[in-house]
Amino acid sequence: MIEPLRWGILSTGGIARTFARDLAFVEESVAVAVGSRTLESAKRFADDFDIARRYGSYEELVGDPDVEAVYVATPHPLHHDNAILALEHGKHVLVEKSFTMNAREAREVVDVARRQGLFAMEAMWTRFLPGVMAIRELVTRGELGTIVSVEADHGQWFSPDPNFRLFAPELGGGALLDLGIYPVSFASMILGTPSRILSMVDPAFTGVDGQTSMLFGYENGAHAVLTCTSLARSPTRASITGEKARIEIEGSFYAATGFDLINRSGATQRFDFPRLGRGLHYEVQEVARCVRSGLLESPFMPLAETISIMETMDTVLATR
Ligand SMILES: NC(=O)c1ccc[n+]([C@@H]2O[C@H](COP(=O)([O-])OP(=O)(O)OC[C@H]3O[C@@H](n4cnc5c(N)ncnc54)[C@H](OP(=O)(O)O)[C@@H]3O)[C@@H](O)[C@H]2O)c1
Repeated sequence: MIEPLRWGILSTGGIARTFARDLAFVEESVAVAVGSRTLESAKRFADDFDIARRYGSYEELVGDPDVEAVYVATPHPLHHDNAILALEHGKHVLVEKSFTMNAREAREVVDVARRQGLFAMEAMWTRFLPGVMAIRELVTRGELGTIVSVEADHGQWFSPDPNFRLFAPELGGGALLDLGIYPVSFASMILGTPSRILSMVDPAFTGVDGQTSMLFGYENGAHAVLTCTSLARSPTRASITGEKARIEIEGSFYAATGFDLINRSGATQRFDFPRLGRGLHYEVQEVARCVRSGLLESPFMPLAETISIMETMDTVLATR
């Protein structure tokens, strides 16, 4: 048993609450402080989750000497500044997806983390789910043979409120950085960085990207076919097709609890995995493991890959 990592939670919104709830499943981590733009919200959050210290500003939170790691859970236009604020105060960071608004900002955060000798990771929680770890292992072991294609879609329906984060330009609105990042990151995990990128991006009613279809090509000839939309609930399936076998994840692939491994002749092997809470605690365990073993990044979500994913999304959005 390692000494619990002492977390400060930066912001008190929706995903910060999920994170605080899921921390209960992790012995290797404890929330010791929360910071909000308002003390009232920090107090409410701290009372709800039994957190000892509560602050009415992010500056006070990162100044808490007892906090070792900061979870940045603000809207994505703030990730760059919030993460750098925490790093400059000597804190390790776990930064919500999308890591930043673009690749330039991502490189700046990574530069500060490296200069400070601190751990940093994009909170791509899906990567750390046991089912997704198992998929990675099967692919690495060559059970699917050479990978020929990856397909994935992520569409969610939201009521058309111009002030809602996904539709508001000033809050980083847009389907790609919020929803499309899951298919893009999934393809990146399996196939790496694409060498060819084609895309079609159409706006939602506020002008931010609302629906995007992407076709990526890789040096080895593989393809990825990916879509996202904030206009409708799509099947949210994913598949990885190899010469020997394919993997199919039915429904909410980004929160996968199971999948089918289907060989060329159609024989199917089912894999199921239990999941506690929303599943964010697996990434939290990874941060604690890395920090306690002196790693400055996770081999499962390396910083170079986070930058590459942001570069890919920059290229896709440039076709608007
Ligand atoms: N991993 C996942 O499954 C998942 C799910 C949802 C969202 N996310 C990511 O998490 C981030 C936050 O999303 P969310 O859904 O939690 O958002 P949210 O509910 O709107 O919460 C965001 C929080 O950020 C703080 N904030 C600071 N400046 C703000 C501003 N100008 N406007 C609004 N809020 C501001 C607020 O907290 P204070 O008032 O306390 O400062 C607010 O409660 C996004 O980057 C999103 O992509 C990840």
